[in-house]
Amino acid sequence: MIKVTNLKKSYGDHQVLDGVNFEVKKGEIVTLIGPSGAGKTTLLRTLNWLDAPQSGLIEIDGVKVDASHVTKHDIHALRSKTAMVFQHYNLFANKTALENVTESLVYVQKFDKAKAKKKGLELLDRVGLADKAESYPAFLSGGQQQRVGIARALAVDPQVILFDEPTSALDPEWVGEVLGVMNEIAKDGMTMIVVSHEMRFVRSIATKVAFLDGGNIIEQGTPDEVFLNPKNERTKQFLKVANLWTSADDYVI
Ligand SMILES: Nc1ncnc2c1ncn2[C@@H]1O[C@H](COP(=O)(O)OP(=O)(O)OP(=O)(O)O)[C@@H](O)[C@H]1O
Ligand SMILES: [Mg+2]
Repeated sequence: MIKVTNLKKSYGDHQVLDGVNFEVKKGEIVTLIGPSGAGKTTLLRTLNWLDAPQSGLIEIDGVKVDASHVTKHDIHALRSKTAMVFQHYNLFANKTALENVTESLVYVQKFDKAKAKKKGLELLDRVGLADKAESYPAFLSGGQQQRVGIARALAVDPQVILFDEPTSALDPEWVGEVLGVMNEIAKDGMTMIVVSHEMRFVRSIATKVAFLDGGNIIEQGTPDEVFLNPKNERTKQFLKVANLWTSADDYVI
C-alpha cells in the first residue's frame, strides 16, 4: 500500500530525513515514535507533499512519485490518497463543524451542496457529533474539535490517514473519546500512520511501531517487540527517558 524508498529531506544543511525506507500494508496501523526533532511530523508531511522532499520515492496505493522529477499531476494524485489529522486540529474558526467537514467535498470534489451535507452529517454521526453540526469550533471542546478533524479526514475517502499526535494538545479528559473514534476507524480497516506516545492506545491497536531518530527509522516491530524488548541502544534510551519502556506486568490495558 505504502512504500517509501530512500526519502531525504533537509532544511538548509540540516538533514531531517536521511534516507528513510519504510513500508505499510493495507489495513496496518503503524505508530511512529521518537524524540522531539526526530522528523516524525516531517515524514508525515512529505507523504502528502505538504513538505517536498529533495529525493526518494513515495508510492501510495499505486501512485508512484519520484521526488527528483515530480509533476503537479503526481502531487495531486498522491494527495488524493491521504488525509491528515493535526495536533492542533486546524479547523476553520469561521465555519461550522459541518462546513469544516464538507469544505473539501464542495470545493475540491465538486459535490453539490445537498450531497455534501448528507455525507458530512453521516461522518459527524460516525464520530459522535451529529448534534454539533451547526456549532463553531470555539463552542466545541478540544476532543470534539479533534473528532471534527477526523470526520474531515474521512470525508475525502482516503486510502490512508496520517495522524500527527492527535491527542497531545488535549486535556486528559478528552483523550479517551478521540482514541475511541480512532479505534473504531482502525477496526473498519483503515490504514493509519499515527505519531503518538499513547502507550495503551499503541498497545491496543498498532500493528507496527517504528522508532525514528536522527532522520531514520532505526528500529521497528510489533508493539511488544519494541516496547518490551527493544534491541537498539537508542530505542532503549528513548523509551527509558520517555518512561515508555515497561515491564510485561505493567502492560495491562
Ligand atoms: N519548516 C521548517 N524549517 C526549518 N526547519 C524545520 C522546519 N520544519 C521542521 N524543521 C526541523 O526539522 C527537524 C524535525 O522536525 P519535526 O517537526 O519533523 O520533528 P518531530 O519528530 O515531529 O518533533 P516533535 O516530537 O517535537 O513534534 C527539527 O529539527 C525541526 O526544527
Ligand atoms: Mg512533530
